[in-house]
Amino acid sequence: MAIIGKNIDEAVRFLTQNDLIGMPTETVYGLAGNAFSDLAVSKIFEVKNRPTFDPLIVHTSDLSRMDSFVEEIPEKAYYLVDKFMPGPLTLLLPKKKIIPDLVTSGLESVAVRIPNHPLALALLRQLEFPLAAPSANPFGYISPTNAAHVEKQLGEKIKFILDGGECSVGIESSIVGFEAGEVVVYRKGGLAIESIEKVVGKVRIMEHSSSNPQAPGMLKSHYAPRTPFVLDTVDDWKNINLEKVGFLAFSDIKPGFLKENQLVLSPEKSLNEAAKNLFSYMRILDDKGFDIILTELLPEEGLGRAINDRLRRATVSVH
Ligand code: TXA
Ligand code: MG
Repeated sequence: MAIIGKNIDEAVRFLTQNDLIGMPTETVYGLAGNAFSDLAVSKIFEVKNRPTFDPLIVHTSDLSRMDSFVEEIPEKAYYLVDKFMPGPLTLLLPKKKIIPDLVTSGLESVAVRIPNHPLALALLRQLEFPLAAPSANPFGYISPTNAAHVEKQLGEKIKFILDGGECSVGIESSIVGFEAGEVVVYRKGGLAIESIEKVVGKVRIMEHSSSNPQAPGMLKSHYAPRTPFVLDTVDDWKNINLEKVGFLAFSDIKPGFLKENQLVLSPEKSLNEAAKNLFSYMRILDDKGFDIILTELLPEEGLGRAINDRLRRATVSVH
């Protein structure tokens, strides 16, 4: 069992001795350790059971600290930093040597993010090093959006979880890189592509699959619950035992299925509210012992694009 608490000094003590903690951010909880320490970083891969070819995001509190481990910031990146950091945005920037190769899986660029969460920022300001932190879930499972989720899955392996309440955004940060002046979105996330494009103009979106492991966290099977999770036309499922069918719906209860087996992401059709609820509702349904969980895609706009991306990755094809 990990200690769950709000005391930043306690978090500082664990991190300074190269132990890992659960850290709140506005997107999802992270499994955090000293990004400058090979020892702490190797513990992250071990605890998460994550292959070392899948690099980690480095978290810091402000631009001046970023300068200590980032070689240069392209002009378009500056506009994004200015507008969206702190926030649910991660930038891929050329790294300085001080970042261990283990953090970036040998890549020349490091993923950097300033989380917009008061406890995380206060913690990062007190530390003399940035924090490497992947989402605090076992590799391949749903990301945690509260301290209890972290405790349930990693509580045996870490000593402390800093409790910052429920994550306000609920899905991981958007990851953006820069290639020959072009802005490239590697992962759709908590900052809408429309918002990014308002600042830097048209972006290129990289669609990943398991055959293209450039950003390995984008493997198709990522985010999968244990119960088979299926995107399908509702009518196909009417002849099976409805007691054993769960439904994750966008805004309305689905007729023809048991009401008590359904969760609605946002009765008001808010994509932001749906993002905030997505992972915790997937967990609740996954724990009910259903034979199958059905779901549906959301409007392909705003955070709906990132939500649909997660739903597609979580689902299995049954045909
Ligand atoms: O919202 C978030 O980004 C959360 C919170 C904790 O900050 N973190 C998160 O980390 O989602 P993780 O490790 O679950 O996902 C990080 C993704 C992976 O897909 C990884 O492959 C990619 O970022 N990534 C990290 N460093 C990279 C790099 N140098 N180049 C390309 N992709 C990178
Ligand atoms: Mg993750």
